[in-house]
Amino acid sequence: MASSALVTGATGYLGSELVKQLLQKGFIVHATVRGPHNTQAVQHLTNLADALPGTLKLFKADLLHPNAFDESIKGCQYVFHTASPFFIEVEDPQRDLIDPAVKGTSNVLSSVAKHKTLVKRTIVTSSVAAEREAWKIAKEHDLDLVTILPNFILGPALSRHDTKGLSVGFMKACLESDTIAGTPVIVDVRDVAKAHILAATLPQAEGRYIISNRKPITPRLVSDVLQARFPHLQIPTGKQEDAPEKIDNSKATTELGLQLTTVNETLVDMAVTLMQLGIAVPRPKPMT
Ligand SMILES: NC(=O)c1ccc[n+]([C@@H]2O[C@H](COP(=O)([O-])OP(=O)(O)OC[C@H]3O[C@@H](n4cnc5c(N)ncnc54)[C@H](OP(=O)(O)O)[C@@H]3O)[C@@H](O)[C@H]2O)c1
Repeated sequence: MASSALVTGATGYLGSELVKQLLQKGFIVHATVRGPHNTQAVQHLTNLADALPGTLKLFKADLLHPNAFDESIKGCQYVFHTASPFFIEVEDPQRDLIDPAVKGTSNVLSSVAKHKTLVKRTIVTSSVAAEREAWKIAKEHDLDLVTILPNFILGPALSRHDTKGLSVGFMKACLESDTIAGTPVIVDVRDVAKAHILAATLPQAEGRYIISNRKPITPRLVSDVLQARFPHLQIPTGKQEDAPEKIDNSKATTELGLQLTTVNETLVDMAVTLMQLGIAVPRPKPMT
């Protein structure tokens, strides 16, 4: 019989990729969204379900509403909690970022606790505040919890709905603006989604997993990779900066057997999807 999994935040950048990979594997996916009738937000998910072996069921749930996840969790062996606001420009950080992260995690895990005889494992995509809350509740109710700590996520987007997020915003700026700034340590969205599924389904998976490349990317690397792939576009020239190795990702590579996508592939595949979706419209290179 097919396995069932709940994915919160299914319309999001990461959530959409996770739903896609679960549908590819034949899962019955219970996807929670705030607006199941918002066609623009869910169309790509229903298209994926039409094309892939798994089954998609949409549920309405807001992180801030107690018991909001009780209905969607019924029958699920795995719970993936990815929903959380993830952007910088907010009016009130407590109300707009911290409350949804902490209260949302508490609401999701309280629903898991009510169904703990069936739920085999819960995977929480972490922000610091959400992770602390998740471990606290898991301890109180003796839940099998794994947390996933991704670094800055880049890679292909699946929907135009993703445009507000930080990840898409970063690449859109690289393609459209006059500068490339920042030296984030990145990880491919496909690898992060894959890590979630491995962390849920491998019996020996436990604890916290940092999902990340080891070295930061530099602005020069981004501009070199994009300019080489899109010679007809005007890509800003990024500065060369020091990028020493920073991250120990060995727990994920050894325990989950995760093999990471190359940085070049991540950057190029993301740029291609943003242009295809009309999210980024770069300038053509002037004729010389
Ligand atoms: N992107 C990164 O670089 C990165 C790095 C580290 C950790 N993370 C974590 O990964 C997770 C996903 O990030 P992402 O980049 O995929 O973010 P995203 O594209 O902004 O997606 C966030 C999702 O959360 C949902 N959401 C937000 N507020 C909600 C609420 N009050 N009730 C119900 N759902 C709500 C959104 O639903 P709507 O469609 O209705 O808005 C959306 O589906 C987050 O937990 C984030 O902290 C991301």
